[in-house]
Amino acid sequence: ACDVLPDRQAAETEFARRIAAKVRRKPDMVLGLATGNSMIGVYRVLVAMHRKEGLSFAAATSFNLDEYCGLPAGHPASFASYMREHFFAHVDMPPGSAHLPDENACADYEAAIAKTGIDLQILGIGRNGHIGFNEPGAPVTSRTRVVELAAATRTANQRDFPAGEAVPARAVTMGIATILAARSILLLATGPAKAEALAAALEGPVTPQNPASFLRLHADVTVICDRDAATLLS
Ligand code: F6R
Repeated sequence: ACDVLPDRQAAETEFARRIAAKVRRKPDMVLGLATGNSMIGVYRVLVAMHRKEGLSFAAATSFNLDEYCGLPAGHPASFASYMREHFFAHVDMPPGSAHLPDENACADYEAAIAKTGIDLQILGIGRNGHIGFNEPGAPVTSRTRVVELAAATRTANQRDFPAGEAVPARAVTMGIATILAARSILLLATGPAKAEALAAALEGPVTPQNPASFLRLHADVTVICDRDAATLLS
């Protein structure tokens, strides 16, 4: 299913509402979380729902999709810092319930996820069709592992790093198989830069060249996008 909202803010709000509805129905939800620009507004809405409507994450558990390799603890561009700043510091999820992958413990991360499974995996999409940091070429059987980032991804993410500081060349990410094992998946695509990747993912061939196309192998995926990201859909 693909839901086209009029603009970015409407898409982010709808995306957050879908997450909140699931958390209300199952407070001990296991969430697969994403970072990136697209998700900032989503976390803002969830935090507002926590403050104003009592949406609680006290019983929830989370596993983030990915993290850069080699950044010192507390680096402002790390996904751990992002999650703290945009979400964890403002909601009631116990710190021990939030997990991020560690480049030195990929198998442990898979084992921890396998214990409960992920109820709801949220995803953004890269301009090259990546999901998590599964860049074009990622096998459908891939699991949590260290990967090389595509040049395009490092360029896009330079915005998060201080001037003169390079984006790490490598990252740790859940694999395609890890993502496809989630019971339910929500993908958010906003802005014209995502139009090509989104159309290829939803309407092109299912191929490692567009990792998001593998989502068509899953029975419960909902795509929320804005009009700018939907322009190339038929
Ligand atoms: C982030 C992640 C990435 C982003 C994607 C889109 O945890 O896994 O796949 O979802 O790069 O990023 P933005 O939203 O910054 O365009």
